[in-house]
Amino acid sequence: MNTAHLVLDRHAVVGPVHRRLFGGFVEHLGRHIYDGIYEPTHPTAGPDGFRRDVIALVRELGVSTIRYPGGNFVSGFRWEDGVGPREQRPRRLDLAWHSTETNEVGLHEFAGWLDAVGSDLMLAVNLGTRGVEEALELLEYTNVPGGTTLSERRRANGRDEPFGVEMWCLGNEMDGPWQLGHRSADAYGQVAAQAARAMRMLDPSIRLVVCGSSGSHMPTFGEWERTVLTHTYDVVDYISCHAYYEERDGDVASFLASGVDMDHFIETVVATADHVGAVRRSRKRIDISFDEWNVWYQSRFESFEQIRGIDNWPVAPRLLEDVYSVTDAVVVGGLLISLLRHADRVTSASLAQLVNVIAPIMTEPGGPAWRQTTFFPFATTSRLARGTSLRVVADAPTRATARYGDVPVIDAAATWDEAAASGAVFLVNRDPEAATTVTVDLGRLGDGVRAGDSVLLHDEDRHARNTLAEPERVRLRPLDVTTSAGVATLTLPPVSWAAVPVAVVG
Ligand code: AHR
Repeated sequence: MNTAHLVLDRHAVVGPVHRRLFGGFVEHLGRHIYDGIYEPTHPTAGPDGFRRDVIALVRELGVSTIRYPGGNFVSGFRWEDGVGPREQRPRRLDLAWHSTETNEVGLHEFAGWLDAVGSDLMLAVNLGTRGVEEALELLEYTNVPGGTTLSERRRANGRDEPFGVEMWCLGNEMDGPWQLGHRSADAYGQVAAQAARAMRMLDPSIRLVVCGSSGSHMPTFGEWERTVLTHTYDVVDYISCHAYYEERDGDVASFLASGVDMDHFIETVVATADHVGAVRRSRKRIDISFDEWNVWYQSRFESFEQIRGIDNWPVAPRLLEDVYSVTDAVVVGGLLISLLRHADRVTSASLAQLVNVIAPIMTEPGGPAWRQTTFFPFATTSRLARGTSLRVVADAPTRATARYGDVPVIDAAATWDEAAASGAVFLVNRDPEAATTVTVDLGRLGDGVRAGDSVLLHDEDRHARNTLAEPERVRLRPLDVTTSAGVATLTLPPVSWAAVPVAVVG
C-alpha cells in the first residue's frame, strides 16, 4: 500500500476555470451525425430527426462549446452544400473518410441541435481545398445580421438572427500529410494570417484558433508552432494542440501516465508561443485550444483502411468506434487533471469526439444510447470544476515507466469557487498494482471545509467496458472519504480515478 499527501491552498491560484475547457467535437465522420445524433426513424427522434435520448446524454455530459464540422472532413467541405432546401443539397464524396456526405444535416440543423443540448458552436473553416474568400463568405452568412446577399440567404433559409459564432478554427491539422491541402508551416502561416486579418475586418469580436501540430510526435513539431505563430501572432488568439493516447504493447504503466506527456506538450507549446511573443516584444499572450484530445486506439484502426474503391463510398460506415475500458476512462480522468493544471493557458479544449466516433456516448440504430466508461470522468469534472484551478502540492511515491521515467503514482488537480465556498479535488492512481491511501490537507481552503459525497471509477477487471449487451456494466461508485481536523483521507485502488467535492460545512 502506497501513501501520498496533498495540500490545497485557495490562494495558490493557477487561473480561472473556463467553461470552454469542457468542450466537445462533432465531425461528419462515420456514424457520428447519421445514425448517431440524427436518426429520423428512431423511436425517440423529434420532428427535426434528432434523437432525444442522445440529446439527454449530451446534456448530462456537460459539454460547453462544440467544434464542428471537422476534423479532416472540413478540409474538403463546402459549407454551402449544407444550407438551403434539403432536397436540393448535393451528395458529395468525403475524401477524408472515403464516405458519401448526404448533407442532410448542415449548419442550420446542427445549430438547432446545439440549442437543444445547451452548447455553443465553434466552427472550423476549410483552408485545405478552399481559402480566404470562402472563410469570409461563411462568416458573413453566420454573423452578419442582414442586408447583404449571404446574410439574407441565411434569413431566407429560416434563421432570422445571426448564429453569432465566436470561436473559429483556421483549418485543421494542416501539418499532416493526410490532410487535403497539407502545406508547409510557412505556406500555412501565410494563408492563416490572411484569413485571420480578413475575418477580423468583417467581425472583430471573433476569437481565432490557428493550427498547431497534429501531435507532438510530428517531425515538424515545435518549428511548426514557431513559424506559424511568427506569421499570425498579432491576429490570432489561440494555437491548437491535438493528442491521442492508447495502451501499447501491454505497457499499462506508461499509458496510465499519459498526463505526463500532455503536461509536457502544453508546456512546450506555451514556451514556443511565449518565445515568439518575446521576439516580437509583444505583451499579447497566445492561449491554447486543446481542440482534440482523447484515448484513441489508432493501432487497431483497420476498418477505415478496408474502405476502398471508386465505387465504394458508404454513407455513415462504422468508423473509429472504440469501446473504452475502465483503464481508458482512468486515463481520460488523468488528462482532464492535466488540462485543469494548465487552466491559465489552456482556456479552450474539445474532447474528440462525442457520439459513436471515439466517443463517450454510443448508439445503436433503432436501439439504445449508452454511456461509455470515459463518460464518467468527463461529466463529473465538467459538473464539479468551478471557479479557479489551484496549484496542488503533492508528495507521492513514484513508479518507473518505460516511456516517461519515474512518475508520481498519484496525480491531482483541484478547483475552488470562492463565492460558493466549495470546490473539488480530482485524483488518479496511476499505479497498476498497488492501492494508495491519500491524505488531503484542506486547512488552507478555510475553516470547516469537509469532503462531501465522493465518487470512484474503478473495477476489479480493469478491462471492463459498457457495451450494447451490457450498457451499465461500469458505473461510478461511492468513495468513502473521512474528514478529521481539516484533513480528508481516502484510499484509491490501483488504476482508479476519483472526484471529491469539498465545501465549508456549518
Ligand atoms: O478525431 C479524428 C481525426 O483525428 C480528426 O478528423 C483529425 O483532425 C485527427 O487526425
